[in-house]
Amino acid sequence: MIAALDINVQKVEKSKLKSLSLDNIPFGKFFTDHMLEADYEEGEWKNIEIKPYQPLLLDPSTAALHYGQSIFEGIKAYKDERGEAFIFRPYDNYRRFNLSAKRMQMPEVPEDVFIEGLRLLVELDKDWIPNKEDHSLYIRPFMFSNDPIIGVKPSEKYKFMILLSPTGPYYNKPMRIYVEEKYTRAAPGGIGFAKAAGNYGASMLATAEAKQKGYDQVLWTDAFEHKYVQEIGTMNVFFIIGDTAYTPSLEEGTILTGVTRESAITLLQEMGFKVEQRRISVDDLMDAHQAGALFEVFGTGTAATITLIKELRYKDYVMEFDTDKWQTAPELKKRLNDIRYSKTEDRHSWMFKV
Ligand code: COI
Repeated sequence: MIAALDINVQKVEKSKLKSLSLDNIPFGKFFTDHMLEADYEEGEWKNIEIKPYQPLLLDPSTAALHYGQSIFEGIKAYKDERGEAFIFRPYDNYRRFNLSAKRMQMPEVPEDVFIEGLRLLVELDKDWIPNKEDHSLYIRPFMFSNDPIIGVKPSEKYKFMILLSPTGPYYNKPMRIYVEEKYTRAAPGGIGFAKAAGNYGASMLATAEAKQKGYDQVLWTDAFEHKYVQEIGTMNVFFIIGDTAYTPSLEEGTILTGVTRESAITLLQEMGFKVEQRRISVDDLMDAHQAGALFEVFGTGTAATITLIKELRYKDYVMEFDTDKWQTAPELKKRLNDIRYSKTEDRHSWMFKV
C-alpha cells in the first residue's frame, strides 16, 4: 500500500469528453481532461499537481530542448465489463523509467509519485477509457530537464508529467519491414535500452527512407556488422522457427526491456513454446525461411501490442508470409487481451486495480 501523498487536485469545470467519440480513435491525438505535473528542485520532488490539461510555458533556453535529457514511458489502462479500471503492469514501467533516468543522469521519480500519481489521474479520467476491442487509455509519463541554461551539464531542475490519451490500435494491419543496414539505432554502451526521447528522434530518417521504398518500418541491426537483429521500429521482435520462439537478448544493452516482450515470453511458454533470448542473425532468418521453418514474425510493444509482419526484406531477399494462416501471434494476442480486458483469470497479477 502506498502512503498518502500530497497531490493537489484541481478539476476541470466541464469535461471535453462529451464532444468526442471514443470509437476508432487515432493513437496519441486526443488527451483527457487532466494531467499530472511535478517539479524536481533543490534535490526533491515538489508541487505535485493534477490539473486541467494545458500548454506549458517554457523558457527558450530550457535544457531538454537543446540536449535531449528527456525520457518517457508508455502504459495502458483498460476497463472490465463492470466498468472497473485496471492498469497493465505499471510497476514494470516504473522500474524501467528509473533505469532510463539513471542512464540519462536524471533524478529518480519516487514510487509513490509515479504509481499513486498515475492511479489518481486514471481514476479521475476513468470515463475516458474506451470500451472497445483493441482500444485503451494510453498513459504517457515523461520527464525532462528544465534548467533555463544552455551549458552542457545535467540540470538542477526537472519536470515529471503524466498525460492520458484514449487510443485505438497503433498499427492496424500487418506490416512490411525493411532490414536496415545503413543507420544504427543502438550500440553497446549507448542508450538503446533506455526509453530516451532521442532514440525515437534518431529513428525517423531511417523510417522515412524505408517508407520511400514502400515499407512501413525498419528492422534495426547491430551497429558493427548490420548482421544481428535488434528491434522493429518501436517494437521488440519475435520469430517463430519450428517449435521455438526467438527474440534478441537484452545482454548488450541495445534493446528496450519491453513489458509486452516480457509478457509475450511468459505467455508463449504457457502456450508450449521454447523461448530463446539470444543473438539472431539475418542469415539465420534467411536459412530458416529457405528451409520453410520461419513460420511467424511479429512485433510487441505497449502501443503496438502484437503486430504481425507480413514481409521482411533484406537486400534483394524477400521473405513473405501469409499472416491469415498464422496461429501463434493471433493466439498470443488473444491471451494477452483476455487478461487486459479481464476476460480471464489474471494469474500473473499483471492488472493493477485503479
Ligand atoms: C510504446 O509502445 O509505448 C512506445 O514507446 C511506442 C511509442 C513511441 C509510440
